[in-house]
Amino acid sequence: MSNILTIENLNVTYRTLAGRRHVLQDVSLSLASGQIRAIVGESGCGKSTLVNTIISLLPDNAEIESGSIMIDGRETVGLTGERLRKMRLEKLGVVFQDPFSALDPSYTIEKQILESIRISRKVSMKDVEMEIRELLRSCGLRNPEEILKKYPHELSGGQQQRIMIAMALLNKPSLLIADEPTTALDVTVQKEILRLLKSLAKKNDLAVLFVTHSLDVAAEIADRIAVFYGGRVVEEGRVEEIFSFPLHPYTQALLKTIPSIEYGKNERKLMPIEGELFSFLNEEEGCCFAPRCPYASERCFKESPKYRESHGHGFACMLEEVL
Ligand SMILES: Nc1ncnc2c1ncn2[C@@H]1O[C@H](COP(=O)(O)OP(=O)(O)OP(=O)(O)O)[C@@H](O)[C@H]1O
Ligand code: SF4
Ligand SMILES: [Mg+2]
Repeated sequence: MSNILTIENLNVTYRTLAGRRHVLQDVSLSLASGQIRAIVGESGCGKSTLVNTIISLLPDNAEIESGSIMIDGRETVGLTGERLRKMRLEKLGVVFQDPFSALDPSYTIEKQILESIRISRKVSMKDVEMEIRELLRSCGLRNPEEILKKYPHELSGGQQQRIMIAMALLNKPSLLIADEPTTALDVTVQKEILRLLKSLAKKNDLAVLFVTHSLDVAAEIADRIAVFYGGRVVEEGRVEEIFSFPLHPYTQALLKTIPSIEYGKNERKLMPIEGELFSFLNEEEGCCFAPRCPYASERCFKESPKYRESHGHGFACMLEEVL
């Protein structure tokens, strides 16, 4: 399997009035075709910053301080203008959390899809009619003819997200990035969308980077999970390893906070972990999780733990024994 995405030692900061916020810290990740990797972490840990860095949509006050992002063998940090546009069009598909705000309320779905295609190819609806219908069907929309004539507000949240997924796949990308794509949907629809993404990834040999704050959602869709804390990958491994043998105290705490399945609702929710969230201001020495870690020693406040890896399961903690 070839790597579609390889991120190495990525550091990203935001300039703010209160100072510089070092939000992505030495992030390294890789993703092969056909693989689905979930990025899991609490709100504000840097998940969307990572996504926006990969798709080159960082706000003006952000800066990539160092690091590399290779997409399909090509360095993308530093790409600008036509080269960047071409890379985005050819290689990337992106699905965001809220499909309704991503769609234009004043145009029919047909018009919006056609406009998206026209950005890369000069075509008429007649040329691509079959292709679009086939794509909508493959995204679980059974009546593409009807759907194409509708305006976004005439569709359900699930149908809108299926449209967004279809639009993300229009140019047959090698990498699909989904930032919390099911958070705005109810549980049943969420499950259907997860199933759809999984089958599309398999069918099209797509690499999928799936961002979520829920370990349960991650377990349902991904092969591997990267646990994020304070803008760093603190643990990474296969889903089964993360669930049955979590090595980092933060992952352990996240798993403990998942209560048993709520009655009448096939969903489990993350409960807050004690202690304050990481702020990214006033960069301090030591482990980013130390202020909330039940096992923190004096050394943890002075030294940054090195990332250790064994048999494809890695974590950043200096405890000698896993507790
Ligand atoms: N443009 C910006 N300027 C300054 N700080 C920012 C900016 N965008 C995000 N941040 C800060 O960077 C940190 C990471 O934000 P980010 O949106 O990447 O987190 P997230 O994990 O996606 O959160 P959520 O789960 O709520 O979507 C947060 O502390 C956030 O306040
Ligand atoms: S390095 Fe120390 S503070 Fe950090 S997670 Fe490990 S034990 Fe906790
Ligand atoms: Mg986010």
